[in-house]
Amino acid sequence: MLMERMELTAEIQRRQRTNKLRFYSPYKKQRDFHKAGLTHSERLFMAGNQLGKTVAGGAEWAIHLTGRYPDWWEGATFERAPLLWAGSVTGESTRDNPQRILIGPPTIEEDWGTGFIPADCIRDRTRAMGVPNLLDSVVVRWGGGGDVQASDSVIAFKAYEEGPREVAGADS
Ligand SMILES: Nc1ncnc2c1ncn2[C@@H]1O[C@H](COP(=O)(O)OP(=O)(O)O)[C@@H](O)[C@H]1O
Ligand SMILES: [Mg+2]
Repeated sequence: MLMERMELTAEIQRRQRTNKLRFYSPYKKQRDFHKAGLTHSERLFMAGNQLGKTVAGGAEWAIHLTGRYPDWWEGATFERAPLLWAGSVTGESTRDNPQRILIGPPTIEEDWGTGFIPADCIRDRTRAMGVPNLLDSVVVRWGGGGDVQASDSVIAFKAYEEGPREVAGADS
């Protein structure tokens, strides 16, 4: 009986760790930010330090990448698996911010799947060249609930300092 309870507790913890997206509940300002996506093609989340900007951005990308729109969602929706980009100034800061939030701690590969993209949705990944543990892109399972056929979305990580060559004409 005790053993069963311990196993159950471990299983609950594992699910929480590997499906962080399911437990995301936005604060008012984050909710307003998501909602604004329905009517605006560009958004800026301007708020003080540690007020949830990074979390909101990460959660929204994971929602679009998986197609798992929560009940409370009032923002934009994609009807097909999207190709999304996430970036920061350098490769290192891209790895340590968007990649960490979406995938998990960059240096601990066995914990990839503990970010906002649920572990069971990470289908494939390609490492970038030059920066340790930076990913170039990740293939994510999109849809597959109810009568929606599962397909593959892609998140590509980009460093702005690579300049126009990196983004011009890029298709992934
Ligand atoms: N919706 C939320 N629910 C629970 N905790 C949250 C939420 N949004 C943010 N947090 C917590 O606040 C911390 C700071 O959020 P973060 O997005 O990193 O802030 P910012 O990017 O604005 O500096 C996070 O580490 C997280 O623990
Ligand atoms: Mg931040």
